[in-house]
Amino acid sequence: MSNVLELLRSRAVAAIEKAFGEEAGGADLGAVGAASVTPATDPRFGHYQCNAAMGLAKRLRERPRDVAAKIVAALEVADLCLPPEIAGPGFINLTLRPEAIAAQLRARLGDERLGIERDSPARRVVIDFSSPNIAKELHVGHLRSTIIGDCVARLHEFLGHTVLRRNHVGDWGTQFGMLIAHLKDRCPEALREGSQVDLGDIVEFYREAKRRFDAGEEFKARSRGEVVRLQSGDAEALRGWRVLCEQSRRQFDEIYRLLDIRIEEKGESFYNPFIPGTLAELKRLGLIVESGGALCVYPEGFKNKDGEPLPLIVQKSDGGFNYDTTDMTAIRYRVREERADKIIYVTDAGQAQHFAMIFAAARAAGWLEGVETVHVPFGMVLGEGKKKLKTRAGDTVRLRDLLDEAAARARAIVDEKNPELSEERRAQVAHAVGIGAVKYADLSQNRISDYVFSFDKMLALQGNTAPYLIYAYVRVQSIARKGSVDFSRLDPSAMQTMETPEENDLAIALLRLPEVLDAAEHELAPNRLTDYLFDLSQTFSRFYTNNKVLGDARQTTRLALCDLTARTLKLGLSLLGIGVIEEM
Ligand code: ARG
Repeated sequence: MSNVLELLRSRAVAAIEKAFGEEAGGADLGAVGAASVTPATDPRFGHYQCNAAMGLAKRLRERPRDVAAKIVAALEVADLCLPPEIAGPGFINLTLRPEAIAAQLRARLGDERLGIERDSPARRVVIDFSSPNIAKELHVGHLRSTIIGDCVARLHEFLGHTVLRRNHVGDWGTQFGMLIAHLKDRCPEALREGSQVDLGDIVEFYREAKRRFDAGEEFKARSRGEVVRLQSGDAEALRGWRVLCEQSRRQFDEIYRLLDIRIEEKGESFYNPFIPGTLAELKRLGLIVESGGALCVYPEGFKNKDGEPLPLIVQKSDGGFNYDTTDMTAIRYRVREERADKIIYVTDAGQAQHFAMIFAAARAAGWLEGVETVHVPFGMVLGEGKKKLKTRAGDTVRLRDLLDEAAARARAIVDEKNPELSEERRAQVAHAVGIGAVKYADLSQNRISDYVFSFDKMLALQGNTAPYLIYAYVRVQSIARKGSVDFSRLDPSAMQTMETPEENDLAIALLRLPEVLDAAEHELAPNRLTDYLFDLSQTFSRFYTNNKVLGDARQTTRLALCDLTARTLKLGLSLLGIGVIEEM
């Protein structure tokens, strides 16, 4: 097992159970056992610490230091650690043995997965992310959902799960009435069978339609008529709808290509055929209440400001279906047809209540037996002055423009710093660094908080940024080039135990990878990984500044540390959806 933290936790739990009986370790394993070993808060006192004694002492009414002593007496870690030491009120400090550190690193050197085991059992995980709305702007909120969702998907995939990446695009609803009516006026040829049209900027098209809709009763009435025709399956209306979706999709796909995102579209319309079955089942279960002509589900525990129960409206009084209907249908489909064990929804925090209600209603319907559902909320992207991100002219920022600008700015930096690289190479570097910087800036935030979007900050070569991490990777590759070293030919068994403090720090930082991935997965927190990679890069930088690599007597061991650092960075960045480059 390469997850040292987990290994120490299980040893600590075993010791607690041995010293105080199964109860002590078992009952509150979460609080006292599993969470009780953490990385050391102060590296001077060791690598890890066990904090279980304090909590246990309270429950057992004993002195914490006595409890700690009993845990230590029962703790079997001699294969991994130097003799544990008790400090302060009852902390147990654990220091890894040099030989154990080297053994772990050697095993990792020879492993493509860097010692990361797959989770067992593997689960089927539906991840609903990105999910923009047809004909509307793909805005920065969708950018966050796309980047975070992709990272969560990559993590789950790497850890061995089967991931179903789902793009729940808003491709159905009353807005299509005005869009189709407008399409008939502006581009009637689009409705002919097999015609190929380009409507230009589809968002501008939407704005025009909306302007007409707001301006005149005649157009409004026609729009309503088109909604009815669309919903009743009228062939011409459907053709118009398809044209509009296709146009939008082309713009979305361009963004996904730029961002290197894989995702499968199963939009709202996909679930239309399953709505009757869903409603029938809810009715049969007695979960549907009629209210003012609308059909509602009242999941338990949701109230409005006046204390009245809050409904999910699954059928409007005019007979139409909406966002709630589709999400109830989709969740049922994902469990029944796609056999999901876990369903993750990545949207802005504003939709938290919507999903909490959907989960509660689905649970009440008995659909979530053995299924975990999670909403992964995130905060807003702000512009300078902490206001909503806008262009200078005051418009919403188009994603395409934002990504292009990131790449252009990265290009300017590369042109200045690396004029010797070929044109093609510079373009490559600019793309990797520019797009990587945008992704990293987003993922490195605590995702719940709002963050201020700043090109200058995200492209800085210093600090917690993609360029800094990519640069650390490149630096290692250039060491190899300089010494004509082929990392793939290093012999893992030639790695010796660590000697200098910098070697030691780097070794310990490298060892943490499995526990960090574990935390990032369980907390659905990409910033756990970014924090780690940043820390690793800094630790590497200190190592490299103070420890000569090429030509030193310890060259072999240090090269192995360099190689592991680069591979850890590359793997970590790839899980963030960021590619590395070999030189810059
Ligand atoms: N289209 C929605 C929006 O733009 C997001 C959809 C999220 N997924 C879902 N199953 N409701 O806000």
